[in-house]
Amino acid sequence: MKLHGLALVFLLAVATCKAVEDITCQEKEPFTCSNTDSLNSKSFGKDFIFGVASSAYQIEGGRGRGPNTWDAFTHRYPEKGGPDLANGDTTCESYTNWQKDIDIMDELNATGYRFSFAWSRIIPKGKVSRGVNQGGLDYYHQLIDGLIAKKITPFVTLYHWDLPQTLQDEYEGFLNRTIIDDFRDYADLCFKEFGGKVKHWITINQLYTVPTRGYGIATDAPGRCSPAIDKRCYGGNSSTEPYIVAHNQLLAHAAVVNLYRTKYKFQGGKIGTVMITRWFLPFDENDKDCIDATERMKEFFFGWFMEPLTKGRYPDIMRKIVGSKLPNFTEAEARQVAGSYDFLGLNYYVTQYAQPTKTIVPPENHTAMMDANVTLTYVNSRGELIGPLFAKDDDPKKNSYYYPKGIYFVMDHFRTRYFNPLIYVTENGISSPGTEPREVAIADSKRIDYLCSHLCFLRKVIKETGVNVKGYFAWSLGDNYEFCKGFTVRFGLSYVNWTDVTDRNLKDSGKWYQRFINVTTNNPPAKQDFLRSSLSFHNKNLADA
Ligand SMILES: *[C@@H]1O[C@H](CO)[C@@H](O)[C@H](O)[C@H]1NC(C)=O
Ligand SMILES: *[C@@H]1O[C@H](CO)[C@@H](O)[C@H](O)[C@H]1NC(C)=O
Ligand SMILES: *[C@@H]1O[C@H](CO)[C@@H](O)[C@H](O)[C@H]1NC(C)=O
Ligand SMILES: *[C@@H]1O[C@H](CO)[C@@H](O)[C@H](O)[C@H]1NC(C)=O
Ligand SMILES: *[C@@H]1O[C@H](CO)[C@@H](O)[C@H](O)[C@H]1NC(C)=O
Ligand SMILES: *[C@@H]1O[C@H](CO)[C@@H](O)[C@H](O)[C@H]1NC(C)=O
Ligand SMILES: *[C@@H]1O[C@H](CO)[C@@H](O)[C@H](O)[C@H]1NC(C)=O
Ligand SMILES: *[C@@H]1O[C@H](CO)[C@@H](O)[C@H](O)[C@H]1NC(C)=O
Repeated sequence: MKLHGLALVFLLAVATCKAVEDITCQEKEPFTCSNTDSLNSKSFGKDFIFGVASSAYQIEGGRGRGPNTWDAFTHRYPEKGGPDLANGDTTCESYTNWQKDIDIMDELNATGYRFSFAWSRIIPKGKVSRGVNQGGLDYYHQLIDGLIAKKITPFVTLYHWDLPQTLQDEYEGFLNRTIIDDFRDYADLCFKEFGGKVKHWITINQLYTVPTRGYGIATDAPGRCSPAIDKRCYGGNSSTEPYIVAHNQLLAHAAVVNLYRTKYKFQGGKIGTVMITRWFLPFDENDKDCIDATERMKEFFFGWFMEPLTKGRYPDIMRKIVGSKLPNFTEAEARQVAGSYDFLGLNYYVTQYAQPTKTIVPPENHTAMMDANVTLTYVNSRGELIGPLFAKDDDPKKNSYYYPKGIYFVMDHFRTRYFNPLIYVTENGISSPGTEPREVAIADSKRIDYLCSHLCFLRKVIKETGVNVKGYFAWSLGDNYEFCKGFTVRFGLSYVNWTDVTDRNLKDSGKWYQRFINVTTNNPPAKQDFLRSSLSFHNKNLADA
């Protein structure tokens, strides 16, 4: 009996240590990772930043700034702004309610905020030579000062897709190399004005997105494509323009980084860019063609930008397949692009299965996105879904599903393939339907599942591989205008009442994230179950700015 007791004590001790040390990360539902006693910010190291993210067009509203490409796009093609025909003219109005944003982050105990500057708020006519809007500068100074007062580190994105429309009208924006000088001049002004306070700069959000969705399939601004892809397009060539736009983005990015590293070195900050990532798994892991398609997809998705950014050249497989449509870097350009980041921001949402594309389309129906010759699905050859539902589409065949372990593979891929960079996870999150009544929208246990399952795998990959990840930004601070979806979905960790946008409340996911961030190992929160209930939470104490 005595021996038994001792053994039990010993076993319990081991089991307790184990429970703290080796958290099992689940790939599929049910998730058990929401208990902040075992998984919390303390497992990520002292200086790890936990924050939330947003972007200017999605949150600010149009007041007080010049028109940009998303204004023009959503007004020209209202149906592309979202099923609700919405746009960013009015949204949660952070231009007015920025103090509310800060209050929510303060309540979350966030230590970082990733947001973007609206170029056309600072320079309404696109070029510095045509005048700077003092009101725009003042706005961002207030916001940044407010964040710093709450010890929230600002991460500023210079371009989150909202190019001043004048530059699109004049020379089609990133399709023309003139963008390099205009982007550099804009960045120069921002570094001079804000560089004393902002120490983390991001040049361009999601290098992959504007070339493909903006100039390939025209689902995003500026909405250019070949006539056969979408006859509403005002111009474009879906086969060629995406490659030119991607190339000019890389050159503009590199020019800005070069400027920062020379003229503004004394400011002592860091600069990088943001990649949208997904992980890719073979549709059939026993099929050589599927395995090849998976590797090819990684080159067309990551390598397109990461090979130039690390080696100053496009991947061999792309040069071989894309041929003369792929621009070349001069030697001087290659030198400037290679190594042009201090950190990488990685956005991660979903993983897909890859298989070779079997259909051949006529040349007029071709888009650059077809060059990889890969078809992506959420279901594999055995008919298995990759994971829980990510977002429901009107057409069930277009539903998307998520795979938390994908974040592990993505981080490890960047570590091994691209020379172990400093990484911040700059976006990760999930939407819920915009039609849900408030009580349902606030009891968002599915969002907690999403966030904690990804954080679990993020922690695991850091522990197991030593990948140099130093921060995580959940998408998003609050509900806002979603590109192409309008207000039909909500991505926020806080709920925004669209009748009165000053009425904001942490959802259960926000309350969970707050505990995750603020928990001290000595003083774990007593009760966790409330997160699974539909307890409504309405904080009246937020400052009424
Ligand atoms: C790029 O824009 C400049 C300035 O508007 C224009 O002069 C030039 O012709 C454009 N280049 C191309 C290739 O369209
Ligand atoms: C090619 O585009 C035309 C015009 O949009 C369309 O009618 C046709 O179905 C497309 N063909 C294929 C194979 O996608
Ligand atoms: C890039 O360089 C290669 C090799 O010199 C050449 O074959 C190709 O045509 C060039 N592409 C362009 C767009 O100039
Ligand atoms: C794409 O796949 C089709 C069908 O499998 C094949 O005929 C074609 O050669 C492939 N193209 C490339 C560039 O790999
Ligand atoms: C796109 O440009 C290429 C190269 O100039 C040309 O061969 C092709 O026909 C163009 N496609 C369309 C749809 O205009
Ligand atoms: C939203 O705000 C309006 C105006 O204050 C209020 O009448 C309404 O009850 C609020 N809606 C929800 C769901 O809280
Ligand atoms: C964060 O934790 C500290 C120490 O346990 C506690 O005093 C504080 O109230 C917590 N903050 C919030 C916003 O809950
Ligand atoms: C969270 O905020 C409270 C006060 O708002 C502060 O006392 C506490 O130290 C913060 N905790 C962390 C982990 O930053």
